[in-house]
Parts: sequence; structure tokens; C-alpha cells
Amino acid sequence: LKKTIKYSSGSTVFHFDSSLEQLEKLVDKNSTYIITDDNVYHYYQKKLKGWNILLIRAGEAYKNMDAVQSLIGQLIEAGADRKSTIIGMGGGVVTDIAGFVASVYLRGVDFGFIPTSVLAMVDASIGGKNGVDVGIFKNMAGIIRQPRFLLYDYSLLKTLPGNEWTGGFAEIIKHACIKDAAMFKLLEDHTLKEFKKNPELLSGLIRRNVLIKAKVVQEDETEQGDRKLLNYGHTLGHAIENTYQLPHGEAVSIGMVVAAYLSKAVLDFKESERIIDLVKNYGLPAYYDYNAADALAKMRSDKKRVKDQIYFVLLEKIGKAIYKPLSMDQIAPVVEAMGGAGKSTK
Ligand SMILES: NC(=O)c1ccc[n+]([C@@H]2O[C@H](COP(=O)([O-])OP(=O)(O)OC[C@H]3O[C@@H](n4cnc5c(N)ncnc54)[C@H](O)[C@@H]3O)[C@@H](O)[C@H]2O)c1
Repeated sequence: LKKTIKYSSGSTVFHFDSSLEQLEKLVDKNSTYIITDDNVYHYYQKKLKGWNILLIRAGEAYKNMDAVQSLIGQLIEAGADRKSTIIGMGGGVVTDIAGFVASVYLRGVDFGFIPTSVLAMVDASIGGKNGVDVGIFKNMAGIIRQPRFLLYDYSLLKTLPGNEWTGGFAEIIKHACIKDAAMFKLLEDHTLKEFKKNPELLSGLIRRNVLIKAKVVQEDETEQGDRKLLNYGHTLGHAIENTYQLPHGEAVSIGMVVAAYLSKAVLDFKESERIIDLVKNYGLPAYYDYNAADALAKMRSDKKRVKDQIYFVLLEKIGKAIYKPLSMDQIAPVVEAMGGAGKSTK
């Protein structure tokens, strides 16, 4: 099943319901370099036999310029040229780095992704944002450039750890909240267990999420409008993620619930309880005893702040999101009520 999405900066072909074995049909084996992490490589070493492999260490801590430098060095050594293709096979860390390396090596060579985590399949590998962290600053260096193709092999998810499934579903629930009421219902009618053991159900869900993200990006590649809606749950999420060392998906889940209550206060949104029940059913937290004063201070310093207002993604109803500036007077009571005295961060 193939679908092409045209972006202003290039087209991406999505190969759904495909398999790793099909890669040979998409690229020339000799001039292709597969970047993956040691974790993923450990599981798929056999299947990758005969391919040129460039390894990085697994984890966000290695999504940095050192990894980029090392990979570029390896490409030079291997003699990769302008006609070479780079593949990122792994979770979002790998696809972000591989896309970046491919975008700057010799001022840019072709690249494709084989996402292997739920998060990479439905989110990270789509949209052309490639980059790395610099020190404690996430995604500080990067470039927007679209992969030539994405290859989806759902069987690769068999080895994905349980917590990574949950984290990926946080973004799936986010997509449902902002864009797709019917998918929200589908998620309510099923469980994570059912999606894991039913490949057809899972492939349908993943494809639906890919198309949501791909279309939002297509209409707004440079994030002037609709693409901002993808930040639903992320404003408060970012304000607590680092402080409490929360997994990203958990921080977003808590952020989505706070944003639902803000939507209730500002737009009379009536379905916060459905969101709370859904995140809980998928093993995600709805609340956290964060320190509200700290969280508000972090939000005030957020780059999305304009004068005294912070832009928030709010829900009018499930499946319909809007982007709205809110004053601190509107935000503070809800953020305070939803958090707690919290463990202070200091
Ligand atoms: N570019 C974008 O638009 C965008 C969007 C969202 C997130 N991201 C980035 O994505 C990253 C998070 O992605 P992630 O959650 O996939 O993280 P990740 O790449 O760190 O993968 C999570 C863990 O799962 C392992 N793993 C991945 N696939 C596996 C498999 N099939 N079997 C066994 N283990 C597997 C990895 O080795 C890693 O340990 C962050 O760096 C984030 O900034 C980018």
C-alpha cells in the first residue's frame, strides 16, 4: 500500500504494510548506508546482513553533534558520495539524527526512514524536522527536509518495550483529540493489548495517524498555523517533563488533561472526563503532583509566549482544536488546581 505526500520541499512516499525485505527494491544496496542504534541492531542484525551499517548508541543522550560528527566521519571513510542514500532505521532519536546527517552530508543526500517505534511511526519520522540536541537544549540544531520514503514494517514492533508503546500512544491520543473524533471513539472501544495482538487493527491505526500528521504538515510545513495544533498537551508537558524526569509521553498525557480543563474554563469544553479515562486506559497518567508555581514560571519563559500571553492549543470538542492566546490570569487558576503544592524543584 503506497501513498505519496507532496510537500513544498519535496515528496515522501509512504510504503505501508511493507517489510524490511522490500528495502532492496527501493534503494541500491551498495550505495546505501543504514544508520541504526545498537539496541535495534541487536534485534535485527540477521535481517540486516549484507547492508552497510553505521551504528550509534541508543538513547536521547546520544542525539547530539558528537554522533553527527562520528557518522559523517564514517560516511567519508566508506566513500559515500552524492548518489548515496542514507536510511535511518530506529526510533525517533535515530530518524532525527539520520535525517540531519543526510541533510548536511555533502550539502544533502537522499534519505529514507524505517521507523521502529510507535512514536517514530506516527510522529517523529513524519514532517521533515531533523535535528539534534545541544547540551540540555532539545532539538536546538536542525533543518527541515523531507525523507524520500518511509517504509513501514509493523513486525519490527514485536521487540519494542512496553513503556515505548505507551509513549507512542500518547501522541496517537493527541492526534485523536485535535483532529479525529472517530479515532478517539475507536481508541475508547479497544485496548492497547488488542492493538498489540491484532496486526490489522494496528496497521489501520498507524496509517490513520500517519495521514493526520502528514496532512497537517503538508498544509503548514513551516508551522505558521495548523501544525501548531500538534503541540496539544505539550505546553504544560514541557514545563514539567525535565523537572520531574518524566517520560515524554507521560508529560504530554498530563499536559493534555490540564489543557482539557483549560478548554473547559475558556471554551466550555465538556469532555475532559473522556480524555482522562482514555489516557488511563492506555496506561498513561492523568495527573501529577507538580509544583504549580514552578510550572507557571517555566511556561512564562517558554518560547511560545507573546508579551503576557501564552498560546495554548485548546479543544472546542474532541476532534476540533484551536490555537488561542491566554493570559496568565486565565492559565494560573487551572494549572494551580490541577497540580499540587508539589515537590519543589529546588
Ligand atoms: N522530528 C520530529 O518531528 C519529532 C517528533 C516527535 C519526536 N521526535 C523525537 O523522537 C525522539 C523520541 O523517539 P522514540 O520514542 O522513538 O525514542 P528512541 O529512538 O530513543 O527509541 C526508544 C527506545 O526504544 C528502542 N527501540 C526502538 N525501536 C525498537 C524496536 N523495534 N525494538 C526494540 N527496541 C526498540 C530504542 O533503541 C530506544 O532505546 C526524541 O528525540 C524526539 O525529540 C521528533
